[in-house]
Formats: sequence, structure tokens, C-alpha cells
Amino acid sequence: MAILVTGGAGFIGSHTCVELQQAGYDVVVYDNLSNASEKSLQRVEAITGKPVKFYKGDILDRDRLNEVFEKEQLDSCIHFAGLKAVGESVQKPWEYYENNIAGTLTLVDVMRQHGCKNIIFSSSATVYGDPAEIPITEKCPKGQCTNPYGWTKSMLEQILTDIQKADNEWNVVLLRYFNPIGAHPSGTMGENPNGIPNNLMPYITQVAVGKLPELGVFGNDYDTPDGTGVRDYIHVVDLAKGHVKALKKIEENAGLKVYNLGTGVGYSVLDIVKNFEEANNIKIPYSIKPRRAGDIATCYSDASLAKEELGWTAEFGIKEMCADSWRWQKNNPNGYED
Ligand code: NAD
Ligand code: UFG
Repeated sequence: MAILVTGGAGFIGSHTCVELQQAGYDVVVYDNLSNASEKSLQRVEAITGKPVKFYKGDILDRDRLNEVFEKEQLDSCIHFAGLKAVGESVQKPWEYYENNIAGTLTLVDVMRQHGCKNIIFSSSATVYGDPAEIPITEKCPKGQCTNPYGWTKSMLEQILTDIQKADNEWNVVLLRYFNPIGAHPSGTMGENPNGIPNNLMPYITQVAVGKLPELGVFGNDYDTPDGTGVRDYIHVVDLAKGHVKALKKIEENAGLKVYNLGTGVGYSVLDIVKNFEEANNIKIPYSIKPRRAGDIATCYSDASLAKEELGWTAEFGIKEMCADSWRWQKNNPNGYED
């Protein structure tokens, strides 16, 4: 039996393939490569020494999905495939709802028709909106999202919850990621954004490599220790390992489960700049810019439920996250170069 990994050529998916293979699982990757390179999978193979089975396909393409389920023996799916650019989702809401929601509905329908009723879904801390409590536990109510991307996560959580309630043969694990950064310590795999990065760490690494002149810090007047936004940054390898633990939970017929995957520690934008500079001995020029629309002041997790129920805790610290992000960028200034 194998694990279907939709979006497995992407940033988090490819790192999860490494951890799955190293834990002894066979993986089948399904990705339309709209935001990824197939080369990431060659890097997975080089690290693990095992082949990765890859199907190029879209989660909206029912025929192609049927073909994969007919050819492969799949008992669970880790579902990463989706569009994820917050700003773009505001400009293209239809495309985001179509891709993420209609795509997931198609995937789940094909899964159940083939008797595969185990799914781990990539959700996000964004579902908490402006969180009612800090640190954020899973009991914290979901909030108002500030963009269509966030709503796709919130709605898909509801859809998968309702599907599991109606048919308890389903096992559904909703994983709410905080801010994934870092890269595989080998320096051969990492985040490969198209164009100018929206997220903090890839922006910093592109400043460090000389592609961008300086970092803009979006606001220094938040109600935080230094006025800049505070987030819970988590190493992508830790995040990937969380999926292997979630799969073990599914194997226990867990029903519906929801977990935060974060470190439980908040760092400000300026903390990240300082840690990056210290870890890599590189100066990051920055200037203060206005606040970015839709940003909140503070977001960090209480990650104790994942520790209690999955036996998972993040192991990498902020310096390692900064060092690994930089190693990837430095070794691969143009990403996967295709
Ligand atoms: P990514 O863009 O690197 O990976 C997503 C992958 O899905 C890409 O390889 C892309 O080609 C593929 N894809 C998109 N639409 C598809 C479709 N219709 N059919 C088939 N493949 C499709 O992003 P990532 O950072 O690895 O994120 C993975 C998942 O985690 C996403 O669902 C994302 O929303 C979620 N998430 C990411 C973050 C983050 O900050 N990176 C935070 C919270 C949640
Ligand atoms: N920031 C800057 N300058 C930049 C980019 C970001 O100052 O050039 C600041 C932001 O204002 C924020 C912090 O850095 O305070 C982190 O911003 P990111 O864009 O890296 O991450 P977000 O917390 O805004 O969002 C991320 C993902 C979302 C996900 C969310 C919660 O992009 O998909 O985490 O999981 F929903």
C-alpha cells in the first residue's frame, strides 16, 4: 500500500515525501506542477535512495485521478495540492475557490469511490482569523478570514468535518500549520517561489543573495514587544515529520482530529532578521514600511495537543531554520532552475 501525496512536488510536500520514505512508506505523488518543479522529486530520490512514483495531473481532473487509483494501491492521502498566495487570492477569488474547493471535492469523491477514506489535510493558522486567545489552542474558535485563500482552508475544514461525521469510515486529520520556513539540511531542497516572494523568509534569503536590495518590514507599531508582527515559525522538516505522526494516528482509526503544528514560540520580524544575520553572518538591510493589509499583530500556537496525542514536537530552533533557509538559497540561487 502507498500514500497518495497531492501537491507532493511543492515545498512542504517534497519534504514530507523524504520523511515518509525514510519512515518506510511508499509514496505516489500527484501534482500539476503549477507551482513546483519535478526536479524536487529527483532531490527526494537522491536523499532517500528510493524512487518516487510521480503522476502529473490536476486534482480537478477526475479521469486522471481515477486512473491513478486504478493503477496504484492507495490507502491514505496527504493532501497538499492547492493555490496558496494570499494576495493573488484577493485578485482571483474564483480561481482559488475552484482550484482548492472544487479540486478537493473531486479528489475526495474519487477517493471514496475507491474505498480510500483516510485523508490528512493541509490547513493553516489563518483559520483562526485574528485569534481570540494567544497562544492559540485548537479549542480557539475559528475566525473571520481576511482573504479568499484563508476561506478555502476554513471551508475545506468544514467540508471534510461534515464528510467524516456522515460516514465514520473516514479518518480525517486537519493540520493547522503555523509559518513553515527552513529547508532540508542537505541544502538540496527548499522553497522555490515564483517572482518576488510574499513571505518573510524567502524575501530575506533573496536580499541575502543579492537579488533584492532590502527587506521592507510591514509595520513597527503593532502591540508587540518591538512593534513588528510576531509569528510561530516552524522548520519544514519538523512540519513534514508531523505528517508521518498524523498518518500513524489515521492508522489507529482516529476519526476526526485537528492539530496545530507550530513550535509554541513567537518571533517578531526583527527577531528573524537578527537571528538570520547571526546564524549566517550576513547583514540584511531593511526599512520600515506601512502595515500590510490583512496582517495581524501576533499569531503563535499552543502545540501541546500534537505532543500529547501524536507524540510530535518541533525539534529545530530558529537559528537552524535561518541557516537551512540560507544554505538552500545560496546553493540554488535560482531555485530548481527550470
Ligand atoms: P506549494 O505551492 O509549494 O505546494 C502546493 C503544490 O500543489 C504545488 O506543487 C502545486 O503545483 C500543486 N497544485 C496546486 N494546485 C493543484 C491542482 N489543482 N492539482 C494538482 N496539483 C496542484 O505550497 P506549500 O507551501 O508546499 O503548501 C502546501 C499546502 O500547505 C498548501 O495547501 C498550502 O495552502 C498549505 N499551507 C502552506 C503554508 C505555507 O506558509 N507554506 C501555511 C499553511 C498552509
Ligand atoms: N513581513 C514583512 N515583510 C515581508 C514579508 C512579511 O515584514 O516582506 C512580515 C509580515 O507582515 C508578518 C510576518 O512578516 O508580520 C510573516 O509574514 P509572512 O507573509 O511570511 O506570513 P503570514 O504570517 O502573513 O502568512 C503565512 C502564510 C499563510 C498562512 C499563515 C498562517 O503565508 O499562507 O502564515 O499559517 F495562512
